[in-house]
Amino acid sequence: MAVNPKATVITGIGELTTNTEEFGALNDAALVIENDRVSWIGPTATAPAADHRVDVGGRAVLPGWVDSHTHLVFAGDRTAEFGARMSGTPYSAGGIRTTVEATRAATDDTLAANLRRLRAEALRQGTTYLETKTGYGLTVADEKRCAVLAAEVADEVTFLGAHVVPPELSAADYLDLVCGVMLDAVAPHVRWIDVFCETGAFDAAQSARVLEAGRAAGLGLRVHGNQLAPGPGVQLAVQHGAASVDHCTHLTAADIDALAVSTTVATLLPACDLCTRQPLAPARRLLDAGARIALATNTNPGSSYTTSMAFCVTTAVLQMGLSLPEALYAATAGAAQSLAHDLTAPGAIGVLRPDSAADIHILDAPSAIHLAYRPGIPLTWSVWRHGKPVTGRHE
Ligand code: NIG
Repeated sequence: MAVNPKATVITGIGELTTNTEEFGALNDAALVIENDRVSWIGPTATAPAADHRVDVGGRAVLPGWVDSHTHLVFAGDRTAEFGARMSGTPYSAGGIRTTVEATRAATDDTLAANLRRLRAEALRQGTTYLETKTGYGLTVADEKRCAVLAAEVADEVTFLGAHVVPPELSAADYLDLVCGVMLDAVAPHVRWIDVFCETGAFDAAQSARVLEAGRAAGLGLRVHGNQLAPGPGVQLAVQHGAASVDHCTHLTAADIDALAVSTTVATLLPACDLCTRQPLAPARRLLDAGARIALATNTNPGSSYTTSMAFCVTTAVLQMGLSLPEALYAATAGAAQSLAHDLTAPGAIGVLRPDSAADIHILDAPSAIHLAYRPGIPLTWSVWRHGKPVTGRHE
């Protein structure tokens, strides 16, 4: 067999999770990478020759995590608020204003350094694709600079001007701004618009206005909904054909039925549920009803200060009734779908198949179930992004 000088073959994969119907999960597998894509998948015994060979010694390989919900553009610290919450003070949307004040006061360099720090932290743990949001600026200039800074670090950026109403404006004046001048300033730098539809933030009519303005500006739609109590967020997201409704902590039977017959993905944020002392979102009921789900970290300084997708997967398995394959899928392929990615397209993320992205997470364990079997143990051994090893062991 001819040796391909441009290819790297990864052999000795104890368990390969592909998230595809054609390959499923393979044992004693190999995978070939050319440039930034996977070019071949199959048994190690029949792997094609390549100039560069990496034997992973029976370790498990899976697609890199897709973190489809983060808020990385912020400054300041909310440790005291978190401590008080752990002593019984309830979480409320109002805490966002603390971070808005600190973010407005921060320099671009401070915000960029924090963004890079958190992106690097996520990558070291296997997150190869990441969405992040604005939402702690809440002036035209601050939302625009947050979007520009985010676009330098994240794969996709969401405009969340409609996070809360800032203290200096009335709700009516602020909505005019978000749906007008602010949207015009931010739209060239983002793919998505989002709205926090919750008591203490925006009601259904206000949220609908934000989504319609975003759609008219050519943006895709996302909603934060049903985080702190039952509410209109899920139904609004489904009615507007949003790609994702995020949180979904407090769902009625009608919400679950609506999600089950929609294309809107329910993005569940278990670290946030735990850190705000909410119940965990009803992942099992959603899947059993036929809804599509994603798992994401919701990294932010108020409600979920973690970049660990592994923690979310572990929690989903141990506490939310998902099997390991269901949780893995939700944190990779499901999250890609929540960002409206086609899993069969050339360069697809969240899956491993010929012509998918070569974004690969290698665990220091023989199978992925160890993510739940060994809770809290850092299992990332190596991470490859765009076909190149970027962190960890990859001799
Ligand atoms: O997704 N829900 C709205 N936004 C963030 C919270 C941000 C904060 O408390 O700073 C969230 O949980």
